[in-house]
Amino acid sequence: ATTQRIFSGIQPSGHLTLGNYLGALKRFVERQDDGIETVYCLVDMHAITVWQAPETLRQQTREAAAAFMAAGIDPARSILFNQSQVPAHAELAWLLNCVARLGWMNRMTQFKDKAGKNSENVSLGLYAYPALMAADILAYHATHIPVGEDQKQHVELTRDIAAKFNHDYGVDFFPLPEPVIEGPATRVMSLRDGSKKMSKSDPSDASRINLTDDADTIAQKFRKARTDAEPLPGSAEGLKDRPEARNLVNIYAALSGETQDQVLSQFEGKGFGDFKPALADVAVSVLGPISTRMGEYLADPAEIDRILGEGAGKAEAISAPIVAKTREIMGM
Ligand code: ADP
Ligand code: NA
Repeated sequence: ATTQRIFSGIQPSGHLTLGNYLGALKRFVERQDDGIETVYCLVDMHAITVWQAPETLRQQTREAAAAFMAAGIDPARSILFNQSQVPAHAELAWLLNCVARLGWMNRMTQFKDKAGKNSENVSLGLYAYPALMAADILAYHATHIPVGEDQKQHVELTRDIAAKFNHDYGVDFFPLPEPVIEGPATRVMSLRDGSKKMSKSDPSDASRINLTDDADTIAQKFRKARTDAEPLPGSAEGLKDRPEARNLVNIYAALSGETQDQVLSQFEGKGFGDFKPALADVAVSVLGPISTRMGEYLADPAEIDRILGEGAGKAEAISAPIVAKTREIMGM
């Protein structure tokens, strides 16, 4: 049996959101506390698949590192590093580009969403992104990948690439990683459009809560969140056809650690005029301390760089031999 190893990443392509916190960061911390080896990566090479101004990217990478630590990732217990500092990612991505099939890439829905109608004029990197993600995971022989729902297809592609590599070269080298999609908030939705996920790359800042938002901004964004005009039902069953209302109740529940039914039992018959300020209070009570700690880390950027550098050393120690072995298996 392979030893369990957790790997996951977040793009430093903007301020981290409440969706990243509930769907990813919070769960990364829980995993760290399970006592399994945890490897967490700021995937700046994924971020550059769409334009990033260099100084902004540098700043956002430090901000993302601060968010990880402020949320509870301890660099002494988890490996926390920046993708571009560890050469294994780019190298293995090329090797896996030669294993992945064009037809598989063509089925990736996130590429279709992100490229939209403009697919002739997006970067080749945006198209190849899932092979780089496969490399991120396989370079560590990672076995469990905690992600939000939007990443399920990419982790499945990683399994296909690993299986094809093992089959083509007649080896049992890459373990097939399991997507771990669990918890109450695997898909937090936009505050402006109940059919879209909340994302740091959404052009509308009002669509999301950023971990760096202050209390007033959080309250204002929830106040303006799109909803219907019905009062809240007494149980989650009554939210079935009300995606915006369901999203807000779900955010409340995920933040407070209650079930949706428990939340609704407190708000049955109330309107959003009552619910939204209460939601803002819960969000501020959870996010306020995180953003305060982020500010403390960000006051010392050299220390963040030092921590990321140390993490990169540990990441390289695991991944370099795995990539060297991959090359050897392939005859290089
Ligand atoms: P974004 O779309 O905000 O740029 P990333 O692609 O960097 O996010 O994803 C980082 C992690 O956060 C992934 O595990 C992803 O599944 C998770 N995640 C992103 N947005 C959400 C969301 N709205 N709800 C739950 N999880 C999310
Ligand atoms: Na994403």
